[in-house]
Amino acid sequence: MKQPVRVAVTGAAGQISYSLLFRIASGDMLGKDQPVILQLLEITPALKALEGVAMELDDCAFPLLAGIVMTDDPMVAFKDADYALLVGARPRGPGMERKDLLEANAAIFSVQGKAINAVASRGIKVLVVGNPANTNSLIAQRNAPDISPRQFTAMTRLDHNRAMAQLAQKTGKTINDVKNMTIWGNHSSTQYPDVSKTTVDGKAAESLIDNDWYVNEYIPNVQQRGAAIIKARGASSAASAANAAVDHMRSWALGTAEGDWVSMGVYSDGSYGIDKGLIYSFPCVCKNGDWEIVQGLEVSEFSRARMQATEKELQEERDAVKHLLP
Ligand code: NAI
Repeated sequence: MKQPVRVAVTGAAGQISYSLLFRIASGDMLGKDQPVILQLLEITPALKALEGVAMELDDCAFPLLAGIVMTDDPMVAFKDADYALLVGARPRGPGMERKDLLEANAAIFSVQGKAINAVASRGIKVLVVGNPANTNSLIAQRNAPDISPRQFTAMTRLDHNRAMAQLAQKTGKTINDVKNMTIWGNHSSTQYPDVSKTTVDGKAAESLIDNDWYVNEYIPNVQQRGAAIIKARGASSAASAANAAVDHMRSWALGTAEGDWVSMGVYSDGSYGIDKGLIYSFPCVCKNGDWEIVQGLEVSEFSRARMQATEKELQEERDAVKHLLP
């Protein structure tokens, strides 16, 4: 059996974590031969609830669960962590402007970035799930100067999975038939689900769908799927978000399938003309525990306009918290 790795999860008593922690402990994320120690961070008032979650984790008798740490101190939660899933975030309260939300989260993610910088494993892989995920990831990254910016990512895998599922349903095929989906940009309603390189059962997706449906139904439906779930369920997506977090980390740690790619919010190196330094969702291939942005894809005028619109939103978010960025 391998040595256990340390997986830090924040917001560990929340909705997403109630599904996520059990998936990680069962080996879905890092493999059925990789023991894990869960290092769970919550705010002080939620520690009692967190104890209940830990009791349930114990009661699952997961063979791969090698230990549980519960804390309200980021310096404890991120100590020697090999992986960090930053799920906890400040939700938008009544009367809160977008700028207030960005600032409230900037406070949380700068503290966590600093703690990661101080005590985490130098090889840590960080995934930010808590919204606004891309900008929260940027804030954490900028507060961790001793760790490569490439080690901070944001989750757009749920959008990627939603885009695949909706295309499979429309074309009467299964998820297994859909390859090379791309989500560009921000995890928000400006994201751009791009099927121009996607194939379904080996055929170009664009040859199987009507352009009017793609532009006027598919793109908005993928962009607004989170809101549709809240409307139907009366609560935000949790199990599917947890599943996407597991998928994101598994791809990063264990690699993507040959010939396919996944969407990840990653540090922009200027690829496709996107502002360097933003955490922007690109098509990525993962290998040997590292990711690379897929290069050389042709970008149509239609795509370019949408990629830039979501880039502009990320620039505005970054500029709104500029005074808080080191
Ligand atoms: P939730 O409200 O059920 O749980 C959040 C937990 O975070 C709470 O238990 C809270 O006490 C904790 N928390 C708050 N501040 C914290 C801090 N400073 N340190 C540690 N823990 C802290 O929310 P849920 O449903 O689990 O969602 C979590 C986040 O994920 C939200 O921001 C949500 O918008 C986001 N999300 C992102 C998705 C994506 O695709 N990137 C998809 C779905 C949700």
